[in-house]
Amino acid sequence: MLFRNRFLLLLALAALLAFLSLSLQFFHLIPVLTTKNGASSKSRKRILPDPVTEPPMTDPIYEALLYCNIPSVAERSMEGHAPHHFKLISVHVLIRHGDRYPLYAIPKTKRPEIDCTLVANRKPYHPKLEAFISHMSKGSGASFESPLNSLPLHPNHPLCEMGELTQTGVVQHLQNGQLLRDIYIKKHKLLPNDWFTDQLYLETTGKSRTLQSGLALLYGFLPDFDWKKIYFRHQPSALFCSGNCYCPLRNQYLEKEQRRQYLLRLKNSPLERTYEEMAKIVDIPTKQLRAANPIDSLLCYFCHNISFPCTGSGCIDMGHFKVIKMHQIEDEKERREKKLYLGYSLLGAHPILNQTINRMQRSAEGRKDEIFALYSAHDVTLSPVLSALGLSEARFPRFAARLIFELWQDREKPSEHSVRVLYNGVDVTFHTSFCQDHHRRSSKPMCPLENLVRFVKRDMFVALDGTSASYYDACHRGEI
Ligand SMILES: *[C@@H]1O[C@H](CO)[C@@H](O)[C@H](O)[C@H]1NC(C)=O
Ligand SMILES: *[C@@H]1O[C@H](CO)[C@@H](O)[C@H](O)[C@H]1NC(C)=O
Repeated sequence: MLFRNRFLLLLALAALLAFLSLSLQFFHLIPVLTTKNGASSKSRKRILPDPVTEPPMTDPIYEALLYCNIPSVAERSMEGHAPHHFKLISVHVLIRHGDRYPLYAIPKTKRPEIDCTLVANRKPYHPKLEAFISHMSKGSGASFESPLNSLPLHPNHPLCEMGELTQTGVVQHLQNGQLLRDIYIKKHKLLPNDWFTDQLYLETTGKSRTLQSGLALLYGFLPDFDWKKIYFRHQPSALFCSGNCYCPLRNQYLEKEQRRQYLLRLKNSPLERTYEEMAKIVDIPTKQLRAANPIDSLLCYFCHNISFPCTGSGCIDMGHFKVIKMHQIEDEKERREKKLYLGYSLLGAHPILNQTINRMQRSAEGRKDEIFALYSAHDVTLSPVLSALGLSEARFPRFAARLIFELWQDREKPSEHSVRVLYNGVDVTFHTSFCQDHHRRSSKPMCPLENLVRFVKRDMFVALDGTSASYYDACHRGEI
């Protein structure tokens, strides 16, 4: 009972949040004050959070609600904003899949009962849901690179399978797609009415949730698209590094990062106690409970307004949830400070950033293909990209998170191109490491494409170790 009341309150809060300013989605991302003799992490200061909307202290419940990204009224967003004499040339969208069923089950408890079939008159609603289902039924294998052609095109199990996209996840991406349609197609005419196949570049990992998320976004973006013009490529690696995945040093960073994570967990005695309590409730060894990654399941209960599971020995409750969620937040904080994850990210994100700048440079040279690129991916894809770009203050990618690169041309100086970077609708261009000094050094209102290109081709390796000149060099240095 208490739980339900609490939940009503929380969901009311969630609805309220949706109306509030954009900065909410991104309050961690605030200007970095640097000292005259260069930036140091100690000199980072955060602008005071908005006292109306932002809890004064880190609040695990507030953070969890942002993570759920419960669909509500359309958000405001800053995509597509530029001075009048700029023309939009191309757009590159990297998404995390939408809300999904957990990847792990809590042993000896009943799985949360969530229906993964799509039903137009069940919450969350979306006016395009029915048309989406009908359009998906017309799709054919020809639109997908193998093995994508064996995947279902929308979620369809009455009891969700592990990791399956939910109706919430579909709605989140229909909304994303519609929002991008309003801005890029209706306002900026990025694609003509009779767009052709090569103008899109579509790529997804081989999970049904990423493929289906990509399709939902695409359907919102180009309703009733012609299936014959669609081709989704398959990306085997969650880092989107195909062909350039071998990078021994990246793995070393990852191992050290995982060691850091392990040591931090050991130091957290409330967390250890919580795991012990929960293990007692479900009557399994603590180690086994921990290995089942219970926060993943608990977030699913939480985001879907389902009471946490009970057994004869008691119930998992909001107290347990808060302790584990809080630990996640502290872990992310230490992760930023220790920089091992940054090393991993610079190497891990290079291939996809390289791919993106190659596409941008081709568009800047006047080629008309691949002007809308969509990469449908995972938290483990977005998170390193954010970190590598220097957006370390950005929140962990929520369900249906979107990171967008826009390429613009100055009509008054057609040889000059600029980029904008947006995370969940917030313009973060001037928080990236490749453009954070731009305002001080230049009177130009936009961030030059060359800054991003220089960063990806050179500066990101220099940031890593001060000397490496290429991805290959950086990946093959000795021990760190
Ligand atoms: C949450 O669940 C309770 C009971 O299970 C229900 O009464 C309430 O309407 C739900 N809240 C929302 C916002 O769906
Ligand atoms: C970066 O892009 C260039 C040009 O397409 C390509 O030749 C190179 O292999 C890419 N490098 C990496 C590490 O992705």
